[in-house]
Amino acid sequence: MAETSSAEIRIVPGGETSANDRADLIAKLTSRQAESPDLQSYDLTADRIAQDGCLLAYVDGSPCGLLVTTAIEGGANSGGLWLDVMAVLPDARRLGVARALMMALRDWASSHGCNGVELHVDDDNRQAIGLFEAMGFHTQSRFMRLEVPPAQG
Ligand SMILES: CC(C)(COP(=O)(O)OP(=O)(O)OC[C@H]1O[C@@H](n2cnc3c(N)ncnc32)[C@H](O)[C@@H]1OP(=O)(O)O)[C@@H](O)C(=O)NCCC(=O)NCCS
Repeated sequence: MAETSSAEIRIVPGGETSANDRADLIAKLTSRQAESPDLQSYDLTADRIAQDGCLLAYVDGSPCGLLVTTAIEGGANSGGLWLDVMAVLPDARRLGVARALMMALRDWASSHGCNGVELHVDDDNRQAIGLFEAMGFHTQSRFMRLEVPPAQG
């Protein structure tokens, strides 16, 4: 359990939370998709976030954030975790919730023999990049795109 001076932050493995809490958090997160853009392409369910590698954050007893990971099998980074989703409700941001989730994930990964955590983050997502850099992530590769205009005529 991590704590800040102003709010009590508690990190709990998804499987140890109630189905009601998980469903409640998903409903709140997905009703504000504009503020959690990665959720649009990810099918979050209460069952999914009860699985290993998923953590929920509670602030003063209410579920306020989560992270969801998948084990990486095969390839150069086999044995690591892929961070599918990390999201904190807008009203609970800048309290240290995501930092507490990441620290708990690092402990969980270490105790489960996982050798690293990797993720994709949009280049304009300054708060997320700030978070991940503050946690010690480094850029390992770049995703690049060339816009191609439609053919004329
Ligand atoms: C990114 C996100 C998870 C951060 O959650 P949070 O609980 O507010 O983050 P924390 O309070 O734990 O902040 C930890 C660190 O992240 C960085 N950070 C967080 N929000 C930031 C912001 N708005 N601007 C700059 N840096 C920020 C800071 O380094 C911060 O440390 P500090 O408070 O000591 O300066 C949250 O903004 C969010 O849910 N965003 C929408 C979903 C999303 O983009 N997820 C990531 C997709 S890859």
